[in-house]
Amino acid sequence: MNDDVKKRLTRSVVLALIALCVGVGIGFYQVSNPAGRSVVKMSAPMAGSLIGGGFSLVNHDGVPVDETAFAGRYKLIYFGFTYCPAICPTELQKITQVMKKLGADGDVIQPLFITIDPERDTAAVMKGYVGLFHERLVGLTGSQAQVDKVLKDYRVYANKVQSEELSDYTMDHSSYIYLMNPEDQLLSIYSMDDDADYIVKDIHKYF
Ligand code: NI
Repeated sequence: MNDDVKKRLTRSVVLALIALCVGVGIGFYQVSNPAGRSVVKMSAPMAGSLIGGGFSLVNHDGVPVDETAFAGRYKLIYFGFTYCPAICPTELQKITQVMKKLGADGDVIQPLFITIDPERDTAAVMKGYVGLFHERLVGLTGSQAQVDKVLKDYRVYANKVQSEELSDYTMDHSSYIYLMNPEDQLLSIYSMDDDADYIVKDIHKYF
């Protein structure tokens, strides 16, 4: 192959990788603060934290729900999109592992997958997707405005990326698992570096 084709291919690969990965980590600045992890891992709800709160969305059965649908439960929330080729499935698999490791202790936790891409992630798409992971994982979607509100409240970075090289758009996004208390206040944030064992241990600080 000639140099021009090589260059084009290289550029495509690089763009694809950027599309996959560039958003990861950016969001940390929005969900963290300069004091970093020591604050994130506080055992009480983050003091003065403005992250979290109620929501108005649509579950994977197409039923409108708000936070009262999961009243009294802790929540493990992940934000992503079903078309994500690598990071989202890895993190949802991690949540599945966490739930399995917690066993009965996990009964008070509701795992939630909230889409950042409601345009493609309809309730039906979400239902098929969450079924690949944990039987209690609930997928949430909604109108763009409903989703935008939740993304803002949870300081999630999400951005649509259109590229000439890719046939369809992809999404840049931050990748964190949020542990919320039953009052929808933030307890902990887990990054991609935190494995299932670490998360289980951290959750056991709370109950
Ligand atoms: Ni993703």
